[in-house]
Amino acid sequence: MAKDPLRVGVLTGGGDCPGLNAALRAVTKTLILQHDAEVVGIRDGYRGLVERNVQPLSYQDVGGILTRGGTILGASNKADPFNYQPRGGANVSAQAVSTCRSLDLNALVAIGGDGTMSIAHGLSELGINIVGVPKTIDNDLAGTDRTFGFDTAVSIATEAIDRIHTTAQSHHRVMIIETMGRYSGWIALHAGVASGTDIILIPEIEYDIEEVARVCYDRQQGGQRFTIIAIAEGAKPQEGERVVRERVDKTSDSVRLGGIGRVLADDLEDRMESEVRTTILGHMQRGGTPTAYDRNLATAFGARAASRVAEETYGVMVALQDGAFTDVPLSDVADRTRTVPLNSPLIASALDVGTSFGVDEIDFDTSDTEPSNLA
Ligand code: F6P
Repeated sequence: MAKDPLRVGVLTGGGDCPGLNAALRAVTKTLILQHDAEVVGIRDGYRGLVERNVQPLSYQDVGGILTRGGTILGASNKADPFNYQPRGGANVSAQAVSTCRSLDLNALVAIGGDGTMSIAHGLSELGINIVGVPKTIDNDLAGTDRTFGFDTAVSIATEAIDRIHTTAQSHHRVMIIETMGRYSGWIALHAGVASGTDIILIPEIEYDIEEVARVCYDRQQGGQRFTIIAIAEGAKPQEGERVVRERVDKTSDSVRLGGIGRVLADDLEDRMESEVRTTILGHMQRGGTPTAYDRNLATAFGARAASRVAEETYGVMVALQDGAFTDVPLSDVADRTRTVPLNSPLIASALDVGTSFGVDEIDFDTSDTEPSNLA
């Protein structure tokens, strides 16, 4: 008797990012071409699983989407089945499980960030066969050196800082550029170094406002009458607070950071004569076409996830570690995030070329193993 074809659901959870469509295309095409599978797209992240809002995904459906930003399936960061805000925070995970069963899904591929992976872990404990695919512009997912979306965000932020450089020079101003990244400084660090930013402020290193003012002042005295500062949205001054842009009620991760760039501008203006301006890059970092690197990473992750499903390796997230593709248990990823290590080779190189991190000295444990790559 012929075996029933493999049926696999796929969803994109959390905030969107460039490369999601490339990953959807890779998962779908690999499953169809290599494993004769049927693919079911779940709309709007886990919300579609709870509400049974799905669509078939054919080979043709994912044609021509490789280069497109966003996600053809829609995404949601307010649809945690364990704390389902559309129903007042109820635990509707049983309903998500029952949708998988009623759709005859053998497995689910969940493409997302830390929230999506934590939910995937919870559902896998309820018996759902899940493989995770890591995405986020923040690059803050545990278990992988890189997430797709990050390279595009860094490219966008780098170009923005390059453009601000010339206007800062003309007007002899201090120009502050605020990047996204939540509680990690990956985007600010990578875009800051790539654009030769004078001061980089990240959440991992609480900055001393007097030191930041001193660097700006010294540059002016030395004849460089402008200063560029990249600051991550999660950065905070010593003895200061993180700046919260808003609290979003209908979500389990309710804090939205943003606005520290303006606080820094006010604090600097009190201390110096130069004009200070702030640009907040915001969601621009998440939109538009992915870079070639992100398209390739998303394709490799997506194809690998499809192969894991076909060989019935479940409860894992595909990952990149030290330049090699691998899989990590979802239990090692759930409820964790990955911040910039203070002994990062990129921080060391930036210090070597005179970049300031807003402190006199960076304190780190010298016994920590130095990461072997820039990510
Ligand atoms: O996690 C991606 C991210 O863009 C963060 O960098 C940012 O803090 C957050 O999402 C913004 O969330 P929202 O799109 O809900 O405003």
